[in-house]
Amino acid sequence: MIKSSRFLLYTLLGSLFIISLIGMLVYGYKTFYIEKKALSEKEYDYHFALVSEEVDNEYWRLIEAGAKQFAEEHNIYLEYIGPQRANNEQLLNLLDRMIAVKVDGIITQGVEGERFARLALKGAERGIPIITVDTDVNSSVRKAYVGTDNFHAGELIGQAIIENTKGKQAIGVVMGRYDGINQQERMKGLEAAIKEEERLEIVAIAESNITQVGAAQATYSLLKEHPHITTMVGTSALDGIGIVEAVEEIAPNRGLYIVAFDILLETLALLEAERIDATIVQFPEEMGYQAMKAMRDLQFHELIDTKIMTETQVLEKATLDLLQQGDAK
Ligand code: BGC
Repeated sequence: MIKSSRFLLYTLLGSLFIISLIGMLVYGYKTFYIEKKALSEKEYDYHFALVSEEVDNEYWRLIEAGAKQFAEEHNIYLEYIGPQRANNEQLLNLLDRMIAVKVDGIITQGVEGERFARLALKGAERGIPIITVDTDVNSSVRKAYVGTDNFHAGELIGQAIIENTKGKQAIGVVMGRYDGINQQERMKGLEAAIKEEERLEIVAIAESNITQVGAAQATYSLLKEHPHITTMVGTSALDGIGIVEAVEEIAPNRGLYIVAFDILLETLALLEAERIDATIVQFPEEMGYQAMKAMRDLQFHELIDTKIMTETQVLEKATLDLLQQGDAK
């Protein structure tokens, strides 16, 4: 009796196992099959890669958005990649990998050093055009640069300080990265613009590593070591936000003049609240869009214009108010 019910139980369990195994195979195959079909059904004309300085950085996400828009309009597959945290070696490894997988074109931030130039050459030799976006490496064989005139952007910082401050100014600068070519160009532009102004002097520079936390820490140490600082400048997108965070904690009543970079939403809110005095506007979405357009053109012919400059300007609260009034009408 016991033996036969145990036999029955085993038979039942065995059948259940076989039924679920068959189900798993059938449905598993179906899912797999559908996915494969969906992927192969969409045929793209080109496969481009966009290599960013830092994959989740808000500013680079705007470049990606512009690039994506062009990709969608022109049936292009866009692969957006970049290091988790800004790191030249990792960026260059990604660039090398994109050359190895033979994408049709690579849009990348330009970085300092020999290896970038060698990779641009390697790409060119294999028929893979490389375009720099946001930061150029003029000396490389990249096919074009799309982005801000960074020297001029630095000059604009200087002009804003000259026009809006009075008397002696000790300037503290938070730079995104010391080895960022665009950051160096912005510094040169700033220095050139204030060279003739005796009342203005850059007293110290610190690095933020293009993070808000880094910018706050850089500001703490600048203000501690140089308590006579009267103007603070940030040269990359999250620097202004970090500067305000630190200033409001350790020097809230000093009335520092603060110039930021870019118009991320938080920077605009700080400008609106008069906690930042001016910011330098770049157009990252436009850069992404124009870089993709240039890359698509390169699939047909060489470019006549190899420096495609997007606009740059100073934004102050007064202009922001005017713009908002215009929007309300
Ligand atoms: C710069 C980028 C940088 C970003 C960092 C921008 O101002 O143009 O090179 O990656 O700031 O947040």
